[in-house]
Amino acid sequence: MKSFIAGLPKAELHLHIEGTFEPELMFKLAERNGITLPYESVEALHKAYDFSNLQDFLDIYYQGMNVLRTEQDFHDLTWAYLQRVSEQAVSHVEIFFDPQGHVERDISFETALNGIYSALQQGQKQFGISFGIIMCFLRHLDEDDAFKTLEMALPHKDKIIGVGLDSSETGNPPSKFERVFAKAHAEGFHVVAHAGEEGPPEYIIEALDLLKVERVDHGNTCLKDAELVKRLVAEKMPLTVCPLSNTKLCVVDDMKNHPLPEMLKAGLQVMINSDDPAYFGGYLNENYEAISGLLNDDKELLAELAKNSFQSAFISDEGKAAGIQKINDYVTQFNAG
Ligand code: ADE
Ligand code: ZN
Repeated sequence: MKSFIAGLPKAELHLHIEGTFEPELMFKLAERNGITLPYESVEALHKAYDFSNLQDFLDIYYQGMNVLRTEQDFHDLTWAYLQRVSEQAVSHVEIFFDPQGHVERDISFETALNGIYSALQQGQKQFGISFGIIMCFLRHLDEDDAFKTLEMALPHKDKIIGVGLDSSETGNPPSKFERVFAKAHAEGFHVVAHAGEEGPPEYIIEALDLLKVERVDHGNTCLKDAELVKRLVAEKMPLTVCPLSNTKLCVVDDMKNHPLPEMLKAGLQVMINSDDPAYFGGYLNENYEAISGLLNDDKELLAELAKNSFQSAFISDEGKAAGIQKINDYVTQFNAG
């Protein structure tokens, strides 16, 4: 199954670039920037990656991104991610970045964006990986701050395809950001939001009704509301599920209880993503591997998940069809042995 997954063509739709910051690179960039990390070694940092909930993780995640200072740092971070996924049959990525996490440290919006963008361009050239950049608003901050961030993005519509909503979910419902999402929508950005990771199904409903999202990031808790599930199925609303993230952040107590099989059975448009792979123990292949046993290693189901990743991407209909065709060809070839 490992070899089937390794070669299966896939797209990644839920990935925080700051969440790809591997400890080795963090130490290297800290040294380059004259920063002392509060950990003695790569191993000590790894050991700190033991989370009991989303907030536990976010505290370490924001601490880690302090090391990113220059455009070159953002480039190197993104390039390291692309090198990894280029070996995982990933041909399209839509990546999040958190501008407010940088601007509040006096790192300019452009420093972050340009570093990320130049690496993605290089990845397209060298590996043939197509891409989109989605900037997320930090939901623990207020809507005014999100508006300011949206203003910063307006001159960069050529580089940014969408806006999202991330950070601490509980107590920060989508309704807090209704006006800024309306403006982002009016400006022509795609819109997505994290909802139903730790938060209740009502947050997913708000994301749909108030933010008018085109994808729900995570969405796990929809299963608590049968009417909502029916609606998500009817609307073919993509849910960007992240298995290793869910177990690492204790959203799911054990991988054997992961809701993905139930979600597939319900007819939800789900696919697999890696969220913050450096912190959660695996990139896309490892996430597929983590869930494969629960699907009885059914190659058709794994292929369906990969097809959903292209189907749900912000790409042309031709691009979606090409991705799905690549998967069909791959499965046929694989089965022919
Ligand atoms: N920021 C980075 N990863 C996140 C996640 N899984 N949920 C919310 N905010 C995040
Ligand atoms: Zn996420």
